[in-house]
Amino acid sequence: MRTLFLNIKELIQIRDISVTKVSGKEMKILPTIKNAFLLIENDTIIDFGSMDDLGKITADTTIDLSGKMILPTWCDSHTHIVYAGNREGEFVDRINGLTYEEIAAKGGGILNSAKKLQQTSEEELYEQSSKRLEEIMQLGTGAVEIKSGYGLTVEAELKMLRIIQKLKENYTISIKATFLGAHAFPAEYKQDKDAYIDLIINKMLPKIAKGNLAEYIDVFCEKGYFSVQQTERILEAGKKFGLTPKIHVNQFSIIGGVQAGVKYKALSVDHLEVMDDDDINSLKNTNTMPVALPSCSYFLSIPYAPARKMIEAGLPLALATDYNPGSTPSGNMNFVVSTACIKMKMTPEEAINAATINGAYAMGLSDSHGSITKGKKANFIITKEIPSYGFLPYAFGSNLIDSVYINGKKI
Ligand code: NIG
Ligand code: FE
Repeated sequence: MRTLFLNIKELIQIRDISVTKVSGKEMKILPTIKNAFLLIENDTIIDFGSMDDLGKITADTTIDLSGKMILPTWCDSHTHIVYAGNREGEFVDRINGLTYEEIAAKGGGILNSAKKLQQTSEEELYEQSSKRLEEIMQLGTGAVEIKSGYGLTVEAELKMLRIIQKLKENYTISIKATFLGAHAFPAEYKQDKDAYIDLIINKMLPKIAKGNLAEYIDVFCEKGYFSVQQTERILEAGKKFGLTPKIHVNQFSIIGGVQAGVKYKALSVDHLEVMDDDDINSLKNTNTMPVALPSCSYFLSIPYAPARKMIEAGLPLALATDYNPGSTPSGNMNFVVSTACIKMKMTPEEAINAATINGAYAMGLSDSHGSITKGKKANFIITKEIPSYGFLPYAFGSNLIDSVYINGKKI
């Protein structure tokens, strides 16, 4: 089944298959073709180019897109969309003056979500999570990473990972699973933190590896959560089970988490709201992707990751949502791209690169996602009629998506 899209006002983010990420100055460049065509066969992009070069192409369906643009679907490399209920109460507590850390210290935060999740049946949790997944697909996300980490017991962590597995089976969107048992210390381990780390290493990891339930391992490396030493112990164990690190670092404090990520060859280090020069320098000439989560900064009123400093130091940067009940109850990548431009001073070109090809890299999906490339998945957003692609971040809050194709199918 071949579908041909004609008269595309601008075909955005066209790349050769050899480009797996873009860094530093390259991020300012967003390759496009104006007045273009795109040909897909089943779930794959097979050809594209200028309308002037359109030869004789046969297709089962031909769609005219005059005035509309095409760009690759968003690649959201950091989410926690498997969770139970919500934390609206804490939202109001913060409005009334408490900080995220103060709420966590009095038993709210991650432990609050863990309690809810432990009490929710697998079926009910699947229902809630699949609704969120469907919502983000409608918003233009075509590949997503989902973490565990609201279970914090062997059974509840496995329950979360089984749900992610089931979502993978039931939806066309590409999903990567990350084990985040080290998200917080359960209350009963507050006095004996090593015992919880032992539980992660000796009880959770072997079962996860046996069931092939995760590709990546994550740790919330932060004051009051997991120290650098504890993080390294967990990453070390994860690596033995074949899990690649992707870790939460530098959200509130600088404790050496970025360097630990680099040392353990993390695929990505995420959050980065506070970064010093040593952190930035340690990421130079590595294969670790820095990932910024501007919706989290927005929702918690904390600093934004210093995107300009990182890009000017020659680093790549990816953007993701962090969709979760506590710090970012939103999975809208369109808002992320706008906020990166407005608050982090990224140009539209940089932000779109960060949310597509660099996001794909941060999920190990650059070979199949993140750009309009022959042989890659036919995953793309068709915009409404817009004057330029810069209008996407500019008109923040407007829904400028006409339709979304994932694996060649309109959703
Ligand atoms: O990425 N920072 C750690 N984890 C999540 C939020 C967890 C929560 O508050 O539920 C995050 O922001
Ligand atoms: Fe997160």
